[in-house]
Amino acid sequence: MQITVKTSADLSRQKTDCLVLPVPERGSSAAADAVNQASDGLLQSLRKRGDFSGKLGQSLLLPVAPGMTAKRVLLLGCGDSCALTEANYLKLIEALFKALESSGSAEAFLALDEISVDGRDRPWQLKLLARQAVLAEYRYRKTVSKPKEALKLRKLTVAGSNSAGARSALAQGLAIGEGMNVARELGDLPGNHCTPSYLASQARALARKHKALSVSVLDEKKMRELGMGALLSVTAGTEEPAKLIVMEYRGGAKSQAPQVLVGKGITFDSGGISLKPGAKMDEMKYDMCGAASVLGTFAALTELALPINVVGVIAAAENLPSGRATKPGDVVTSMSGQTIEILNTDAEGRLVLCDALTYAGRFEPAAVIDIATLTGACVVALGSHATGLYSNVDDFAEQLLACGREAADRAWQMPLWDDYQKQLDSNFADMGNVGGPEGGSITAACFLARYTKDYRWAHLDIAGTAWNSGANKGATGRPVGLLTQYLIDCAPGR
Ligand code: BES
Ligand code: MN
Ligand code: ZN
Repeated sequence: MQITVKTSADLSRQKTDCLVLPVPERGSSAAADAVNQASDGLLQSLRKRGDFSGKLGQSLLLPVAPGMTAKRVLLLGCGDSCALTEANYLKLIEALFKALESSGSAEAFLALDEISVDGRDRPWQLKLLARQAVLAEYRYRKTVSKPKEALKLRKLTVAGSNSAGARSALAQGLAIGEGMNVARELGDLPGNHCTPSYLASQARALARKHKALSVSVLDEKKMRELGMGALLSVTAGTEEPAKLIVMEYRGGAKSQAPQVLVGKGITFDSGGISLKPGAKMDEMKYDMCGAASVLGTFAALTELALPINVVGVIAAAENLPSGRATKPGDVVTSMSGQTIEILNTDAEGRLVLCDALTYAGRFEPAAVIDIATLTGACVVALGSHATGLYSNVDDFAEQLLACGREAADRAWQMPLWDDYQKQLDSNFADMGNVGGPEGGSITAACFLARYTKDYRWAHLDIAGTAWNSGANKGATGRPVGLLTQYLIDCAPGR
């Protein structure tokens, strides 16, 4: 997708496939007025006849544009006025791309410079616009014979002044959108395609494209040498080899401590011997969306060539039952030396993560963020709108919450109080891997907290936000927006 910003003196003389005009319910916009005048009152008569009211998200495509040089005109309802709330702006651009897609236009001119968003500046608007444009391009193709037709839209021109701030916002939005699409594709791929080895090959492929990125992959033998008994206990039941994928991006000074992203990469979670029920079990192919968000964020980060150091660690494994699988009651020793009684083999995410988090300590990180489809309980608590956020440093939590708001990829902080820790007590090991039915997302985070005491750490439980169920089943690409925004904010002189 190509997007530029340009001022336009006379909209009626704009040569474009599709001229997009914001039309409020009450009053009017200068853009709509200008076009109305050029077309001999066309918009006014459409309103009078009740064909277009300007309701938020309403759109009307005029296939001809009398008195104008544009091929078509798309009227876009913006509700009460051109001054929008954040949520309504997002609804507006969603409707915009739906309408542009079905119009079949290859190119469009967006006269949206009168739109303002409460508390947000123009670059913010442009960033989200660019992101949504790229998200509209996504098609799942890998395993369907006749995939949905490709998006025709290739080029957008947005009315406004072409400032450096505007250009950098567009670049960020495009990169975030592309990173989200990377994460969506990996998430959507079925478990027989997207294996731990496949994730490793994707990380390597990204490294081949960017000099600043190098990738190494630890195999099970190496993990055994490192003492990763928790991670290895998860992969015990499958033939598919587990991989610990380590991505190192060097954009900053050698001496600069890296940001570390740790992703849960369970490419299929059957529950293991604590087998899950059959309904919706197919959705457990999405149990690698944490890993996918690390890869997607690295795609955005390399694209933007951010001047910082970032390490990605992906704990990739498949969780299946078999004669060799780990059994409830088994006790394993993690890389940290702490022992774990595996009371439920379906609480496998924390088992692969705890070893990956211990490994992350080797990089002497500035901060570590893990991302995981960790608990069904998080979906019960927050639904699908907010990612669950935990941190051992309150300032850090606050910073990440702000990144989520900025990126329209929101998180909500959950408590990590010591009061919950005793739910992990075990008679036979240093801890159990489950904490009972109460506060399931919290006790999972409490488990991880026992492995992250040496650094600034946050945990994102994306079980509710990483994919949509039902007719729209598919990965969302979250929280690539939040994570990329965080890395952008870490970069000096952004
Ligand atoms: N991958 C699941 C979490 C999950 C469940 C994500 C449903 C999205 C939707 C995780 O490995 C899991 O099975 N967690 C268990 C933990 C329990 C056994 C303590 C859960 O949430 O039921
Ligand atoms: Mn599980
Ligand atoms: Zn899982």
